[in-house]
Amino acid sequence: MRKKITVVGAGNVGATVAQRLFERGYADVVLLDIVEGLPQGKALDILESGPVLGTDSQIRGTNSYADTAGSDVAIITAGVARKPGMSRDDLLFTNMDIVGGVAGQIARYSPQAILVVVSNPLDAMAQQTLEVSRFPRERVIGMAGILDTARFRTFLAQEMRVSVEDVQAYVLGGHGDTMVPLVDSTTVGGVPIARLLSKEAVERIVQRTRDGGAEIVGLLKTGSAYYAPSAAVAQMVDSIILDKKRVLPCAAYLQGEYGIDGLFIGVPVKLGAGGIEEIIQVRLSSAEKAALNKSAAAVKELADVMHSRKT
Ligand code: NAI
Ligand code: 2OP
Repeated sequence: MRKKITVVGAGNVGATVAQRLFERGYADVVLLDIVEGLPQGKALDILESGPVLGTDSQIRGTNSYADTAGSDVAIITAGVARKPGMSRDDLLFTNMDIVGGVAGQIARYSPQAILVVVSNPLDAMAQQTLEVSRFPRERVIGMAGILDTARFRTFLAQEMRVSVEDVQAYVLGGHGDTMVPLVDSTTVGGVPIARLLSKEAVERIVQRTRDGGAEIVGLLKTGSAYYAPSAAVAQMVDSIILDKKRVLPCAAYLQGEYGIDGLFIGVPVKLGAGGIEEIIQVRLSSAEKAALNKSAAAVKELADVMHSRKT
């Protein structure tokens, strides 16, 4: 029997994630949204691509959580997206209610699922999902680091005219302006970028990476990125469903790792059939450690605002 994956939110990110996962062929997909007809229409359209693509997976759209029951993985993309001039943090109060409602329903119908959170502000929404679902931390994972790292690798590869595949990098920390590209350990074909690019060029690329989400919002004007985000989600789901045990930068709930306690922060994790199977502790330079702590402080500030509204 194929695995079952639920995608909540049939907007830009959710529908594109559903399409990518359907095309993998390893799972049946349920696409859920509150808007009537939207998930049904998109799912039927994707289903009808099956004969052309040669996939026998099933996909159905729904407005009812009963149809999601027994999912192995659930991806939460429900909520509102950024518009020009908005930061991810501006979405906090609207999305915490939406994500809280979604997490409760998913936990009720799929108590064994692994949850991948996408809605913004990402680190706070992952925390909301953990708290509402009451799942163990291994089964609540935020998507951001793969996307931020992919942007960093794209810009570096463009600058150096090399294949993106030969740029090795990690962007850790919160999914926001304080994200932490690990410049000292970024290499191209094994050579540190400090030996290949000027300090100014590296700084320019780091800043463009930090502004990567806003750059897309500024161009689209009506929403935010979804092609690269959906590719990042699919890479996480591949590692979980196929038990690949990839080491990927994801938002994980830290309990003392990296000296951070009780917060979701982007760090390298081993992803497999059990969800987060290990939090990998890489050696950081003192500047990187300071930047990670600064990022954690920004994430904590938002988590505190969220908690103050709950009490
Ligand atoms: P979108 O507006 O295209 O889609 C959101 C969908 O959620 C809509 O179809 C809406 O009807 C649905 N929705 C709203 N309330 C719901 C509820 N209670 N239950 C079920 N569905 C509900 O937005 P888009 O572009 O798909 O983005 C989704 C979220 O993902 C946003 O918060 C965005 O900021 C975030 N995002 C995060 C990224 C990351 O790196 N973590 C990357 C890209 C987007
Ligand atoms: C991004 O980074 C909006 O968080 C989203 O594109």
